This record gives sequence, structure tokens and C-alpha cells, in this order.
Amino acid sequence: MSPQRTSDGLPVTAYLVLGVLAANDEQLTAGEIKTRAELSVGHFYWSPSVSHVRRELNRLLARGMVSEIGAQSGKRAITLYETTDAGLEALRRVAEHPGDPEELCDHIVDVHHAYVRRELPRLSELLAKCERTHGADRPELIEARATFERLRAELEHHLAEEEQELFPVCRTEKPGEPPDRVLLDLLERLETEHTATGGLLARLSLLTDGYDLDGALCNTHRAALDALAGLERDLHEHIHEENNILFPRALANSAL
Ligand SMILES: [Fe+2]
Ligand SMILES: [Fe+2]
Repeated sequence: MSPQRTSDGLPVTAYLVLGVLAANDEQLTAGEIKTRAELSVGHFYWSPSVSHVRRELNRLLARGMVSEIGAQSGKRAITLYETTDAGLEALRRVAEHPGDPEELCDHIVDVHHAYVRRELPRLSELLAKCERTHGADRPELIEARATFERLRAELEHHLAEEEQELFPVCRTEKPGEPPDRVLLDLLERLETEHTATGGLLARLSLLTDGYDLDGALCNTHRAALDALAGLERDLHEHIHEENNILFPRALANSAL
């Protein structure tokens, strides 16, 4: 599932890759981009895998927004990337027009909230089945299920809170009104919940060796690991869009 949020159809994360390259103004490997992204975004919500960075680089390459250069590191052949003029120009355009908050709310609800609501019950069933079948020999499956059920409960509450309390504010621009205490408290609470979600996902990843499919005990376990990895990927993107784009927009709107 790839969010098509920006006006030219590129996911936000492609622009983050581009932004990292532009900010560093040097040729970087995909691994270096990953490290710099973690350092510069400074938030675990965008700690992409190298394969995710490569996926975005391929999108950018196809549009001529980055170029690749073959090089050697010792005896190893490596690929370096740098921004092109077209990439810099696209970055400038996005910075000037960061998107309509109404569209962003629609995107978050239609893509990410729908995904979470679809996957949570399916994962509950898969993990319950894994626990029944293998839990006696593999106690980590019991903890994984309990951790997931906590995550599910927290996420269900969190999505409702956003849709009922925050998004209506984001959709209604109120120029001239300063951000009120209620909005500030709400944003702080939602960000704290994002951090808690991150902690539970990190625990799930630890309990499953990073959702390692090679460690799957049966087809159900494999499906559960695969679904958990997908949920984590989607949540990282989802929470990044909220913390780093929507929430600042909500504050800016009411502060204008
Ligand atoms: Fe959300
Ligand atoms: Fe959220």
C-alpha cells in the first residue's frame, strides 16, 4: 500500500529520501541515506529499512529526480545517489505547497485507518491460533499475542479520538484564532500515544526476531509475521504523516 499523497503522486517518504540527499549535498549510498534520515528526522517514526529507502530511490530514479553513480568502497562495488536539478525543483515545489489538510485527513482515514481496521481483527485471529497451536512450546507467542491485543485496544481508541476530535479541527481552518489549550493538549496526548504504539511495535518485533519469516512454525504463523511486518510499515508511514505533517499544520492553521 503506497500512499499517493503529494500532488505528483509520490509518497511522502520519497520526498524524505530526496530531502536527506539535498540537505547533505553529497553522494550517499542507500544505507547512508537510511542513517542520515534517522538522525535528521530524529524520530523513530521514520526509521525506514534500507529496502524501503531503495524502493523510494527507484521511484525517484524513474522520474529523473535522483541519479546514481557506480563507485568502489575497497573491493566492493557500491551505488551512490545524488539529487538532480529536477529533484531539487520538485522539493522546492512541495515545500511551498505542502498539501491541503483536508486531503491529508482524507488520505489518513481512507488509507491508513482503513488498513489498521482491516488488519487488527485478522491479526487477532492469526495470533490466537498461533498461541493455541504452539504457545506451550514457545512462550514468546503468548507474550506476542498479549502485546498485540494491547496494541489493538490502544489503536482502536486512538483512531476514534483522531477522527472525532482532531480531524474536524484540521478540516476547518480558523484564521486569526490562536491554538487553544484543548488543541495543544490533544496533540500532545496523540503524540504520546504514537510513542506508546512505537514501544509496543518494538516489543513485537523483538519477540518475533524482526518478523522473521524463516522462523515461521506453520502457515498461520507465517501469515501472522507477514501481517505484523505490514502493519508496522504502514504505521510508521501513518504516524510520520501525522506527527510531522498534519499536527504541525493543525497548529499552524489555528495560529495563522
Ligand atoms: Fe491516525
Ligand atoms: Fe495517530
